[in-house]
Amino acid sequence: MDVIKTVREMRAFSNAARLKGKTIGFVPTMGFLHKGHLSLVKKARAECEVVVVSIFVNPTQFAPNEDLKAYPRDFERDKELCEKENADAIFFPSTGEMYSKPLTFVEVEELGKVLCGKTRPSHFRGVTTVVSKLFNIAKPTHAYFGLKDFQQFVIVKKMVDDLNFDLELVGCPIVREEDGLAMSSRNKYLSKEERKKAPVLNKALSLAQEMFSRGETNPANVRQAVIDRLSETGCKIDYVKLFETESLKPVEKIGSGNAIALAVFFEKARLIDNRVFE
Ligand code: PAF
Repeated sequence: MDVIKTVREMRAFSNAARLKGKTIGFVPTMGFLHKGHLSLVKKARAECEVVVVSIFVNPTQFAPNEDLKAYPRDFERDKELCEKENADAIFFPSTGEMYSKPLTFVEVEELGKVLCGKTRPSHFRGVTTVVSKLFNIAKPTHAYFGLKDFQQFVIVKKMVDDLNFDLELVGCPIVREEDGLAMSSRNKYLSKEERKKAPVLNKALSLAQEMFSRGETNPANVRQAVIDRLSETGCKIDYVKLFETESLKPVEKIGSGNAIALAVFFEKARLIDNRVFE
């Protein structure tokens, strides 16, 4: 497995694969890999001839008051995990390699201002900017994203469509711990006590699904029940929203294929989760 640190070498690697007509499966990450990331690498490995994982903690998607410095990093462990999954290359650039006083940003306007975008106004602009740069550098034919970051997936999909990126975007199911907590690098910030409480996100989403299955279609009723369930743990609720999955606009009546997403704060961790109603 190659560890590639420069844009020039990454381009040369991908150009060589493309020239041979090979498919390139790309998994963009910020490292500190867990089973959720590895499920993306496995899928890329199963579907593509060449697999590239990027590891880059992208400063432009963190606001000044957020956890850029504290974000967990462990490159040696990540490297071993990628090797085990038979990835062909890791793209591991420095911040200087990726950014030198940029004046150009990519923004998917309305979609980035709702849900997580309300609390993190510059976040998705940073994500779409770095993802478009990574697409231009790694030149994938297929790119794999986890659906835990549902809004991120919807926004990147819109960007790919709007800007005619020549690749297939693949959304992959959320991977959960045994007790239902969605895997996330930020789970590391939870204290022991909070870790015990954190499965409440998934439990509250299951409650929403149960209510819908029993015939409840009023979003306000479902939202209130979810808020009540989350509040039992004392976590601070950032938002609970029911919405249409392409436009991310609120729904007036819940239908199959609509979704619910939520974000809560424990002391140091902001956790998100979502469910598409079936
Ligand atoms: O989902 C993530 O880990 C990041 O937002 C991504 C897509 C790697 C861009 O930095």
